[in-house]
Amino acid sequence: MKKKWLIGNWKMHGNLASNKALIEGIRAELPEPDPRAELVVCPAFPYLYQLKDLTAGTGIYVGAQNASDHLQGAYTGETSPLMIKELGGSFTIIGHSERRQYQGENDGLMGRKSLAAIDAGLIPVICVGETAEERDSGRTHEVLARQLDAAFGYIRTAHDKIILAYEPRWAIGTGIAATPEIVQAEHEFLRQRIAIRDKEFAARLPIIYGGSVKAANAISLFSMPDVDGGLIGSAALNATEFVAIYRELLQTIPADEAA
Ligand code: PGA
Repeated sequence: MKKKWLIGNWKMHGNLASNKALIEGIRAELPEPDPRAELVVCPAFPYLYQLKDLTAGTGIYVGAQNASDHLQGAYTGETSPLMIKELGGSFTIIGHSERRQYQGENDGLMGRKSLAAIDAGLIPVICVGETAEERDSGRTHEVLARQLDAAFGYIRTAHDKIILAYEPRWAIGTGIAATPEIVQAEHEFLRQRIAIRDKEFAARLPIIYGGSVKAANAISLFSMPDVDGGLIGSAALNATEFVAIYRELLQTIPADEAA
């Protein structure tokens, strides 16, 4: 059975007290995640170790929001994926559109970061997505193909521990999610594009959607055949809402798929 994924991207929010309250809130509503759907939270770097502690033995995984493309060296201000691993991280988001937009990250850097994350033993959550202008001018597939090829140019599909996230920039933080039909169409496009390199890998690869997911729209998005879960921003900061989204995700797993 292919696992489902729910990943919370906390962005530059939180502090020691609110992080603790958030994890306690999630645990109060969901004493144990279901093994058919993994739950991951991605705090800001300084809180990784706190989250390692808070999530120990809970079945909740921890990830970072970014990682250097180098494992060590004279790179002031950067964070090695090896450090993330040592502080309890198992995942790292790579190429989030806010990093592309505000930190000038490009496709090539995203590819190198993905490879460094894999080399350090992390699972990269590689983000791709078009802007509103790119969609309106009919360039969505051109952009997605370019981003995807850049990332997978560095990665051998044999690695297998990779998650791809489709995150249209116009849907992030806007409250307006992409429609389930758009999401399905783009996930299908991404999967087909990867199948050109490796058909079996493409079939196994989890492709999750991010952009204004909330409990109210989760089931319609997660029910689409090529959607394997979600990358959640603002709704991940509210324990009740995040767990409600998780429960919607569980609903989309056919009953005959035992844990
Ligand atoms: P959002 O963010 O859920 O607040 O739209 C998603 C993301 O940035 O990953």
